[in-house]
Amino acid sequence: MLTGKITGTGLGLPKKQLTNDDIAKFLDTSDEWISSRTGIKARYIAEEGVSTSDLAVEAAINALASAKLSPEDLDLIIVATSSPDYINFPSTACIVQDKIKAVNAAAFDLSAACTGFVYALTTANQFIATGMYKNILVIGADTLSKNVNWSDRGICVLFGDGAGAVVLQPAEKGEGILSSYLAADGSGGKHLINLVGGSRESLTEEKLKLKQNTITMDGKAVFKFSTKVIVEGILKVLDQAGLKTSDISLLIPHQANTRIIDHAVEKLGLSADKVYVNIQRYGNTSAATIPIALCEAVRDGKVKKGDVIVMMGFGGGLTWGANVIRW
Ligand code: UT7
Repeated sequence: MLTGKITGTGLGLPKKQLTNDDIAKFLDTSDEWISSRTGIKARYIAEEGVSTSDLAVEAAINALASAKLSPEDLDLIIVATSSPDYINFPSTACIVQDKIKAVNAAAFDLSAACTGFVYALTTANQFIATGMYKNILVIGADTLSKNVNWSDRGICVLFGDGAGAVVLQPAEKGEGILSSYLAADGSGGKHLINLVGGSRESLTEEKLKLKQNTITMDGKAVFKFSTKVIVEGILKVLDQAGLKTSDISLLIPHQANTRIIDHAVEKLGLSADKVYVNIQRYGNTSAATIPIALCEAVRDGKVKKGDVIVMMGFGGGLTWGANVIRW
């Protein structure tokens, strides 16, 4: 059975970084509260006029350069996002396809919130496995700062904007994606939701005034869900690959809260140097956390040939999923 391997990585970030102290200037919060509860110290925020596709394009160009591939070589572009440029169409993937001139690529968006990148990479890998496509660009990109109420301190401090991209190509035997695991529990969808502005509840002037077209979250319910599935998901995907926790060279978990990551590390008995954490600089960039972290880990020489990389995502939907990669 063919499988895909990551041959290039890239990231795209807004220029502006907003620290916890910056937020404390206009909101009743503090660096102490945010960093002790979440691990976040700062996040990048897309300026007015900068959209998800702008960050995705930057990540795409960087990933293509690192894979030494031209845009015309691409067969498919998948953008995992829950903050697309436009509500209906065109898809953000089509906008990226046009901007980078990937004239031979099909393109579509995939919506699985913070698990989006894992879902998209797994989907891309099916196209490699069937032999249908050879060069696929998978992007995780979000600008959720545009979908939060900046006077709701329980939400707005958590998210940041960014994009990460990878190129997926057929692997040699024994390397690449060894196993993938995807899961969902729609009954928990209410815990992390943007209620207004879709086809269920139209945006009215009144609702706009009350800022109801923004993300609401039951933080405790999502925390409970996340701590459970992060451990279960990692064990499951490792088991599918015939591997054990002790085989992990580097765990790249979704960056939502260091307390969730710490819980997993403790339960799995991993040492801290086997886990990549960069939430302190980015906050939760949703579908982008894993590819941004992977890109940094590769850039900083933390990933070597033969390493076992586990990527684990969880979030809205509720959704969760993981991949095991032999680098
Ligand atoms: O990508 C996946 C989706 N997201 C997650 O995985 C997030 C999961 N949940 C969490 O990470 C945590 O639930 C949060 C970090 C969001 C919140 O932490 P918590 O320990 O559950 O705090 P809380 O919501 O229970 O709030 C505790 C207190 C409250 O005050 P009172 O009622 O005890 O007086 C809040 O009003 O902290 C207050 N609070 C804040 N204070 C200062 C909430 N947000 C803030 C803030 N600054 N930013």
